[in-house]
Amino acid sequence: MQSKKIENALNKQIELEGYASFTYLAMAGWCDNEGLEGCAQFLYRQADEEREHMMKIFHYINEVDGNAVTPGIKQPPTSYESVQQLFKLVYEHEKKVTKSINDIVALCYEEKDHATLNFLQWYVEEQREEEALMRSILDIMKLIGTGPQSLYYIDKEMERINKEEEKADAQN
Ligand code: FEO
Repeated sequence: MQSKKIENALNKQIELEGYASFTYLAMAGWCDNEGLEGCAQFLYRQADEEREHMMKIFHYINEVDGNAVTPGIKQPPTSYESVQQLFKLVYEHEKKVTKSINDIVALCYEEKDHATLNFLQWYVEEQREEEALMRSILDIMKLIGTGPQSLYYIDKEMERINKEEEKADAQN
């Protein structure tokens, strides 16, 4: 049985992961409409991943005899200035998720909740990977620049990155 403080923090994390899932879904839809197929596929997959992150916590809370709360649906933005701005927002959101995970880890030490601490190690590693991935995408976009055909090359790169991610997911 975990403390109410930890349970509340984990329920907040469910909300954050759920919001990430809906945000990436909205972004995927925007990319689809802009003809950015590679970006859209990448973001649809990310949206699914975030839902899995949310569900892992949901099941964990119930497993330790707590009450997992289904979050309300907050509508994410549906239009973006550019694909570069969109991916900057993804990176910012991932940093926010990392901070939140780190805060819960700190709380676990305070509450001497070793089971939750252990459970959260997967998220610590996942966030390190996600931030590195988003930073590498922003670097690629910077290298390609904003000249003519840049959207074409960005989309091709995102198609390639998405395939690599799918391959990595299949191996895990
Ligand atoms: Fe589950 Fe990308 O935060």
